[in-house]
Amino acid sequence: MKGVGGMTDQKLHTILEKYKGQSGALIPALQEAQETLGYLSEETLEAIAQGLRMPFSRVYGVVTFYAQFYLTPRGKHTIKSCQGTACHVKGASRLLQALEDKLKVKGGGTTDDLLFSLETVACLGTCFLAPVVLIDSDYYGAQTPQSIRKVLRKYAKKEKTEEVEEE
Ligand code: FES
Repeated sequence: MKGVGGMTDQKLHTILEKYKGQSGALIPALQEAQETLGYLSEETLEAIAQGLRMPFSRVYGVVTFYAQFYLTPRGKHTIKSCQGTACHVKGASRLLQALEDKLKVKGGGTTDDLLFSLETVACLGTCFLAPVVLIDSDYYGAQTPQSIRKVLRKYAKKEKTEEVEEE
């Protein structure tokens, strides 16, 4: 991981150069920093507060107010388990339980290997697929605990194959 800090500093510096002195720069600067760095660490937030000359508390307040910002590293894949009414009556809570057991994280958490982040949502707008799980941009409808475990295995297997190909 040598040198990552320096590169991160440089990327952040470029972003802050672009936004400094602009009014309303905070949210776009945060979005761009997150897009570039994957998440917003405390050091990143401090650098942004300094760069944009505003109190850290204001930056922190904005980041914690909007659900789009992440303060911890994210998994490569984002799993959204729908807990809306239509999904709930078709067993969404059993699905979520299966996901939590398999991944060993609670909703809102990220697996230790940084492969998955698990989230719960109120409705994915695809109730006809209930109970539905969204992984990145792929919808998995009419899932059961067994079938969703199979889906996870597919992702884990794909990951292993990619690792081997990269070697
Ligand atoms: S309630 Fe799950 S998609 Fe609408």
